[in-house]
Amino acid sequence: MKNIQDYFVPWVKGIPMYVSSHIELAWREPGLHRMMSNENPIPPSPKVLEAIQKYGQMANRYPDQGLIVRSKIAEINGLDGPENVMLGNGSSEVFDNIFRCFLEPGQEVIQHTPCFGIYKLRCNILGGKLISAPMRYENRQLEFDADAILAAVTDKTKIIVVANPNNPTGNFMDAKDFVKIARTGIPFVVDEAYVEFAGLEMSQVGLIEKYPNVLITRTLSKAYGLAGMRFGYALGDEEVIGQISAALLPWNVGTIPMWAALAALEDAAALEERVKFNNSEVDFIEESLSDVKGLDIFHSHANYILFDGTDTGKKGADMVAFAQERGLILRPQSPMYGRDGWFRITLGDKAENRMLIEAVKEFYSR
Ligand SMILES: Cc1ncc(COP(=O)(O)O)c(C=O)c1O
Repeated sequence: MKNIQDYFVPWVKGIPMYVSSHIELAWREPGLHRMMSNENPIPPSPKVLEAIQKYGQMANRYPDQGLIVRSKIAEINGLDGPENVMLGNGSSEVFDNIFRCFLEPGQEVIQHTPCFGIYKLRCNILGGKLISAPMRYENRQLEFDADAILAAVTDKTKIIVVANPNNPTGNFMDAKDFVKIARTGIPFVVDEAYVEFAGLEMSQVGLIEKYPNVLITRTLSKAYGLAGMRFGYALGDEEVIGQISAALLPWNVGTIPMWAALAALEDAAALEERVKFNNSEVDFIEESLSDVKGLDIFHSHANYILFDGTDTGKKGADMVAFAQERGLILRPQSPMYGRDGWFRITLGDKAENRMLIEAVKEFYSR
């Protein structure tokens, strides 16, 4: 008799369950301040809470395919209708579903690094090969490099993914570079998880009409502040979305998240409040820390800020450890470009942001 271990597909065997240690820590120790996972510090609006309560009473029923919320999403984005929208259990599931539709073992996904970690995880679990095209480090900033992405294309490339704005760098790629990549015809996923902070004018959704290989992904985890609800979506050409949706797990999005999402999407004032608060606090933090000598700030169009303190002579990992002693969970960033001073913060509430500023100033003045 063979051992069950011999039955696992080789690309799954040996891969550990993904656990975010910082999120585990935050739930285990609720007294710590969560400034690490790009969550929204503002709890759901009364309208969203009302929808949660209302549809909680129908939790004994299966959800439908979400035609109403998909229609609302299409309307917000100037698309024809629900056929242009696929829902997911967070945008992480949306990537998973897209990847499963295009990627066979041994084929390649190109990502632009540094970036969000889920693309790699989903690629690995399908036996794909992740190819990293690095951003350009220039004038103490990290710049998108569409030519590096194009140079990484091979006949095995099945997906290109770019986050816009990018996490952790917080900047946008130029519109003309999106066209350059879209023109290859390769499935091109533009991850717009944070785009609402800058406004939908910054979206690349307009590319879909001319380039059906472009898929836009979004989430309600960030500007809308519903990370715990798990609701994301993809926008695309009707036929493409239809085909990808065939691979969805039936009832992947529950009744409560679906209706809570609709309430959030209809509550324009609540979104505006969150966006305004975030953007003014980003400005405040960046301004407050601009006089720390040797600390490079990467101006953010989202709800996190990347810093590089290499030129202070101190390591980013030590900054993160110092903040944690003060009760703030920040995010370390592995050394890159020969520099080890990187760390990323997520915006908190007003008091938390001021605690952060104080901790950063104190760490670099010691
Ligand atoms: C660039 C980017 N895309 C997507 C997500 C994931 O969002 P979701 O909660 O929708 O799975 C994140 C979360 O941090 C992110 O940084």
